[in-house]
Amino acid sequence: MTPGLHFLLNDQPIHLTEVGPSDTLLDFLRLNRRLTGTKEGCAEGDCGACTVLLGRLTATGLVYEPINACIRFLASCHGCHVVTVEHVAAPDGGLHPVQSAMVTHFATQCGFCTPGFVMALYGLWMGNPNPTVTDIETALQGNLCRCTGYEPIIKAALAAGAAGGQAMDALAVERDAVATQLRAMQGRRVDLARGDQRAIIPADTDDLAALLAAEPKATIVAGATDVGLWVTKFLRDISPAVFIGHLMKDMTVAAGEIRLGAGVTYSEAAPLFREHLPQVHDYLMRIAGWQVRNMGTIGANIANGSPIGDMPPLLIALGARIVLRKGDARRDIALQDFFIAYGKQDRAPGEFVETVIIPIPHQARIAAYKVSKRRDSDITAVAASFCVTVENGTITAARVAFGGMAATPKRATGAEAALVGQPFAAATFDAAARAVDDDFQPLSDWRASADYRRTVAANLFRRFWLEQSEPGLPVRLTYAVGE
Ligand SMILES: Cc1cc2nc3c(=O)[nH]c(=O)nc-3n(C[C@H](O)[C@H](O)[C@H](O)COP(=O)(O)OP(=O)(O)OC[C@H]3O[C@@H](n4cnc5c(N)ncnc54)[C@H](O)[C@@H]3O)c2cc1C
Ligand code: FES
Ligand code: FES
Repeated sequence: MTPGLHFLLNDQPIHLTEVGPSDTLLDFLRLNRRLTGTKEGCAEGDCGACTVLLGRLTATGLVYEPINACIRFLASCHGCHVVTVEHVAAPDGGLHPVQSAMVTHFATQCGFCTPGFVMALYGLWMGNPNPTVTDIETALQGNLCRCTGYEPIIKAALAAGAAGGQAMDALAVERDAVATQLRAMQGRRVDLARGDQRAIIPADTDDLAALLAAEPKATIVAGATDVGLWVTKFLRDISPAVFIGHLMKDMTVAAGEIRLGAGVTYSEAAPLFREHLPQVHDYLMRIAGWQVRNMGTIGANIANGSPIGDMPPLLIALGARIVLRKGDARRDIALQDFFIAYGKQDRAPGEFVETVIIPIPHQARIAAYKVSKRRDSDITAVAASFCVTVENGTITAARVAFGGMAATPKRATGAEAALVGQPFAAATFDAAARAVDDDFQPLSDWRASADYRRTVAANLFRRFWLEQSEPGLPVRLTYAVGE
């Protein structure tokens, strides 16, 4: 195959030789290909107007997922199949069942958001033709509609499944041919440039290690759900950029541990969490929206060092470790030791996160909470994770970690000390709730005041006790869509 960037766009093979690291897929679609069905709303992964499907080869075959074209870099589409709303209807113009259902149920008004909704629902329909309302709400967390209201859209999604039509679906028919074409594009390093701007796609993880050893200052780009915004919002120069979203995808469960390659996305990890740590599945589904979870990686949520990243508090509470790699040298450290200070992590130039190792504490009581202004797709004000072992009515071990309470994700060591050795009782959790006040000096910002954060942190100890002591208590809000 000739050097350059290769991918499929709808039914067309694309080959590009001049590509800059900051070129977005959305700009390419709209400005270069005039595929203007894909809209630009926020340009930061929040509204879903730019949703397209991305097909890629995985260990289980060709998988299509909705993603945000606005923060997806063109270079990272190498070896993938990009499907836009223009490819959804039949060649004779006949509407797809998802589109027909949107019409029948009056699920659109101004229409600006509609292509994005159609693409998210198309992705859902393909993988789950008979979704529940909860499945639909989860699939639409990353799609914003300002005028129609969500009820008709949800009704359309329910009706689309009932309409069937899978056998006539263009992507189902093309699947084998697409997989063959994508396979031919894999397996070698791709070097791209425009002027002095460079984008490199390593062939494999060893190639990445060699690249970073030679160019330790290169920007690592995994899912680009952070880095994308550096470009679209802050106009930062990320050259040279190394695109790794296709690497480090291995997932294994053995010897009581889940091992995730750093490139595993939230969506890829979700089934493993659901099976082995079901207590935290809801928490995982509170991270961003579906499109972002299809791109964002757990390794990068650690590597970015954010004090409000949602995975670190959970993983620290579970006692996770990470493997850092530089060249051929690897070191295995406790995740809690990776975060040194605000913006400072224990990672040398040229080193990268390769693996995340998560113990499965079978005997422990586990919970993870995210408190934010909005339930879906919102930034955390306070996150807390608990991993508490109780033997014969006494707490024998406790790991409790918080996000949003300090400059780094951090354990509440004073509160943990107030728990261990004490009876599993309301008074013990009240004592821990008081002790957590001394563990942190949170800041006030536009998300939450310091006082609010303190109060929430204390109350989460009480909530944990209530949920664990009386599992039937209605601590969580649920709601349903009317008929
Ligand atoms: C709309 C939206 C909603 C979001 N909601 C949430 C949320 O609810 N909770 C949350 O925690 N986050 C959220 N995020 C942030 C983001 O999705 C996560 O931090 C995500 O895990 C980043 O993964 P990525 O692969 O996209 O990272 P990238 O943007 O590719 O990279 C992020 C950083 O990590 C570095 N990096 C990436 N991989 C490695 C590696 N293997 N080794 C070393 N360095 C590496 C990059 O150089 C960069 O500095 C949201 C983002 C968006 C756009
Ligand atoms: S334009 Fe809003 S998510 Fe992409
Ligand atoms: S129909 Fe207008 S924003 Fe959704």
